[in-house]
Amino acid sequence: MGPFETLSVERQGRVALVTFRRADQLNAMNRLMQGEIIAAMEGLSADDAVGAIVVTGEGRGFMAGADIKEYAAQSGPEFDAFQERGARMYRSVEANAKPVIAAVNGYALGGGFELVLCCDMVFAVAEAKMGLPEIKLGLVPGGGGTQRSVLKLGRNRANFLLMTGAIVPAESFVACGLVQEILAAEELLARALAVAEGVAAEPPDAISGLKHLTAMASAGATDAGLEAERRLVTSLYRSEIGQARVQAFAQKSAERAAAKARTT
Ligand code: COA
Repeated sequence: MGPFETLSVERQGRVALVTFRRADQLNAMNRLMQGEIIAAMEGLSADDAVGAIVVTGEGRGFMAGADIKEYAAQSGPEFDAFQERGARMYRSVEANAKPVIAAVNGYALGGGFELVLCCDMVFAVAEAKMGLPEIKLGLVPGGGGTQRSVLKLGRNRANFLLMTGAIVPAESFVACGLVQEILAAEELLARALAVAEGVAAEPPDAISGLKHLTAMASAGATDAGLEAERRLVTSLYRSEIGQARVQAFAQKSAERAAAKARTT
């Protein structure tokens, strides 16, 4: 995979770390970067050696949105093509077969925030600022921001961000559940990687199943989700690892009871 110009992909065991690297532009996403994110994320999705993905940014930005200077130079059809390929880019994160964990190190605005909205978990530093400021350009989000913000933040909070273009601290997304934890800058990556490593060590069928099931709930497919959940748990119960862990728990309890009986 790669080599890439606008990002890097590093492996640490079963975890892949994707770092956006247009730091001098706060990792604003140009066409090249959009294509490279698709290639990287689709490649990692298909790679059995990868169990979880962490995405982060180099420098002061996670991603400060689409590259507005490139926007300014585009023709109408070029802009349309960028938006269309954007849909595939966001899907490569949201529908990735592997859990994608955002480690938000700085500005996540516009397309950068839309990318965060596609992630399965989010860790952020207190200094990180987020928002959907497209209205300030006389535009609206084009990467799913109006839909996923309602699903992940609640409609009125989404309206506030969309209609005012406010750029707000990451901390204000903890209460609604978007951001899992606020961390010190020097702890962010270590924490995100540790969580990713834990997830990647679990049975892949269970993890991919969980991602699929919570997506069904988000899409409002609760009845089908409940049925799929039952199918998954009954199948995992019969799996080697499911049996080994359940039996080990019971075995340990039996051993404790036997030891207690011997001492009384
Ligand atoms: N597109 C293109 N370039 C961007 C960018 C974007 N979305 N966001 C930042 N940059 C560039 C700046 O142009 C600047 O590069 P330059 O010196 O070559 O012009 C560099 O990144 C640093 O940004 P700067 O504005 O100097 O930093 P700042 O700390 O003063 O301000 C922001 C930070 C994020 C508030 C400001 O850059 C900003 O408003 N960016 C646009 C955010 C946005 O509207 N995103 C939605 C796009 S749809």
